[in-house]
Amino acid sequence: MTAPLLEIENLRVDLRGRHRGDPPRRVIHDVSLRIEPGESVGLVGESGSGKSMTLKAVMGLLPQGAKVSGAIRFRGRDVTAFGRKDLAGYRSRQVAMIYQDPRAHTNPLVKVGDFLIEGVVAAKQMTPDEARDKACAMLRDVGVPDATRRMAQYPHELSGGLLQRVMIVMALMPDPLLVLADEPTTALDVTVQAEVVSILIEQIRERSVGMLFITHDLDLAAAINDSLAVMYAGAIVEKGSATSVYEASRHPYTAGLLNSRPSVEEVRRLQTIPGRPLSAFEAGDGCVFSSRCHFVTQHCRDERPAARPVDGHIVACHRVEELDKSMVRQAA
Ligand SMILES: Nc1ncnc2c1ncn2[C@@H]1O[C@H](COP(=O)(O)OP(=O)(O)OP(=O)(O)O)[C@@H](O)[C@H]1O
Ligand SMILES: [Mg+2]
Repeated sequence: MTAPLLEIENLRVDLRGRHRGDPPRRVIHDVSLRIEPGESVGLVGESGSGKSMTLKAVMGLLPQGAKVSGAIRFRGRDVTAFGRKDLAGYRSRQVAMIYQDPRAHTNPLVKVGDFLIEGVVAAKQMTPDEARDKACAMLRDVGVPDATRRMAQYPHELSGGLLQRVMIVMALMPDPLLVLADEPTTALDVTVQAEVVSILIEQIRERSVGMLFITHDLDLAAAINDSLAVMYAGAIVEKGSATSVYEASRHPYTAGLLNSRPSVEEVRRLQTIPGRPLSAFEAGDGCVFSSRCHFVTQHCRDERPAARPVDGHIVACHRVEELDKSMVRQAA
């Protein structure tokens, strides 16, 4: 059996406090997640739930002084034990990032063409001419017809949607095995969003590249990914195939997210999840969702539930077996 592309096992991250003498802050509790080669996994959660921190841990880019436990394995090899050379190769060729705000990740003084080829040329994967040809061809693939002209322009001459297509090309230039996309379309207009997402999905499927797609939009995540993982306060509360998690959600938090979406068929007052989202360090010893859960018991407040298989996917809830699916969806 081949190793998974990425395997995160019981990842826990504590960051240094803001000021000297402050206690460390837990931002990730025991996260376990697996991505098979070519699989795309949607990591869904509200602001502050730890999505970007999980990505940073995978890239080995956590803030200084972060304490990490658990394992992050890429094709069976422990990323946290990589030396400088392995880490450089891993970051430049095997795993690529696409960020939320493309403008913040380009240099306004560097032309698009130079920006696109610099990584692969510096890594000696290609000559500058080969890289230019490849970048041009890939720009056309992502729907940028006048690629040669665009390569000679500066980032400010491109619209946000166009620049995010450039970022998709940038990410795919080294032929990575895994793409980490951190809310890649949140900064774009709704119509452009849909276009950019479909281009990204088309490209990664065509190339059988694995992807971890971060978003706060459960509908979008379910529509484009093979699998889903729902994160709350630094923990994964529900995960499994996209269809199973979306259509047969069993965790009260996932159900709450599904209930709080506006519907186009029916005008009704939106249900909200009472309370505010917590950060991991505020969650205490019990279930991370216990302070907002409709079904909370003392057991939930005292002890964190283990993730276990229910209904074809994985759920971390003490009461999942006794709570009927429809009950959770209605009351959450
Ligand atoms: N450099 C830092 N130092 C200390 N705490 C941090 C730092 N960066 C983030 N945090 C905290 O870590 C937690 C997780 O943050 P993270 O950025 O992973 O959230 P997120 O799920 O990506 O949210 P968003 O949807 O807003 O991007 C939050 O409580 C945040 O305040
Ligand atoms: Mg984030």
